[in-house]
Amino acid sequence: MRIEDLTVAFKGKTAVDKLSLSINPGEMLVLLGPSGCGKTTTMRSIVGLQRPDAGTITIGDRVVFDAASRVDVPVNARKVGMVFQSYAIWPHMTVAQNIAFPLRMQRRPKAEIARRVDAALETVGLSGLGGRGASLLSGGQMQRVAVARSFVMEPAMLLLDEPLSNLDAKLREKLRFELRELQQRLHMTSVYVTHDQSEALALADRIAIMKDGVIEQLGSPAELYTRPRTTFVADFLGVDNIFPSEVLGPAGPGGCQVRLDGTDIRLRVERDASNGATNVCIRPEEIDLLPDGQTDRANAVAVTILSTSYLGDRVRYHAEAGPGLRLTIVKSVGAPVPAPGQAATAVLPADKVQLLQS
Ligand SMILES: Nc1ncnc2c1ncn2[C@@H]1O[C@H](COP(=O)(O)OP(=O)(O)O)[C@@H](O)[C@H]1O
Ligand SMILES: [Mg+2]
Repeated sequence: MRIEDLTVAFKGKTAVDKLSLSINPGEMLVLLGPSGCGKTTTMRSIVGLQRPDAGTITIGDRVVFDAASRVDVPVNARKVGMVFQSYAIWPHMTVAQNIAFPLRMQRRPKAEIARRVDAALETVGLSGLGGRGASLLSGGQMQRVAVARSFVMEPAMLLLDEPLSNLDAKLREKLRFELRELQQRLHMTSVYVTHDQSEALALADRIAIMKDGVIEQLGSPAELYTRPRTTFVADFLGVDNIFPSEVLGPAGPGGCQVRLDGTDIRLRVERDASNGATNVCIRPEEIDLLPDGQTDRANAVAVTILSTSYLGDRVRYHAEAGPGLRLTIVKSVGAPVPAPGQAATAVLPADKVQLLQS
């Protein structure tokens, strides 16, 4: 699937702004972004429920929408399955009738319908429940029925728009891994929308982070997590240590020197600052924590431990590096644990500090 320069405006207000992206066969692409950034509008455009103002959408090798040449393939001919946040399961029908509905609309033979419904039930782990009234299902089961109904038509791709948002946290986490397993097993090309960063990281082959109708950054979960390009991306992915800072100038080959705002802490960063940076960030796991006084290493910062919390296999520290400057540090259990109130040295390795554009 490929989207080029997709633009959608509502009463002059742009919801999706020249958005382009492509999805590889069998890939799960997650659109991640805050409420109102244009995720649902993008999905509705792909499935054919929203007519874009400009752009081209290609599914497989077929152009399903092109504003310039007025191509606009209707919803039911696009072969796209869709699962929404609200289950849209008909409570007065049985589970099997719900799943069979799209096949009935196509007037498929009865035997074929029965066979495909059974296969879909088995795929989502609901074998034997076909005869049950849909109103008797739990929230998690209903969402499984919605998934089964969306792919019983063997769509070319599947769109899922916040399908787990209405479920409680525990079930959401369980179904997230189930969905991922199903998608990988069936090699189903999918776009998944969420505003939940941990859901995005767990489900995606690639993530597109959206803000105000445009993609801020697109990459694998690991790429985004380790190399966020902008403050918005780092913040949205829950990076703990983000500090406003000023680039002082180049330092060493391909590197630069920055000063954290409001402090005299200077750090060397092994990144080119030519794009301009207004913040730096570093992941809690990348900071070294050493005994007090070991200030001979590059990027060593004197800190006072504020608190320690056990996370099971790791310990999380909060440490103060100066007035108003707090670091979160995560280390594996085993090293000696400095106590709250103790002085220590935090080292922020120059190759691990990221420069963030505003
Ligand atoms: N039918 C509509 N009429 C007017 N404005 C809309 C409509 N649908 C969406 N919008 C606006 O477009 C923007 C993007 O909305 P949406 O795509 O639903 O965002 P998201 O799914 O990321 O929360 C928002 O500002 C929203 O208010
Ligand atoms: Mg939405």
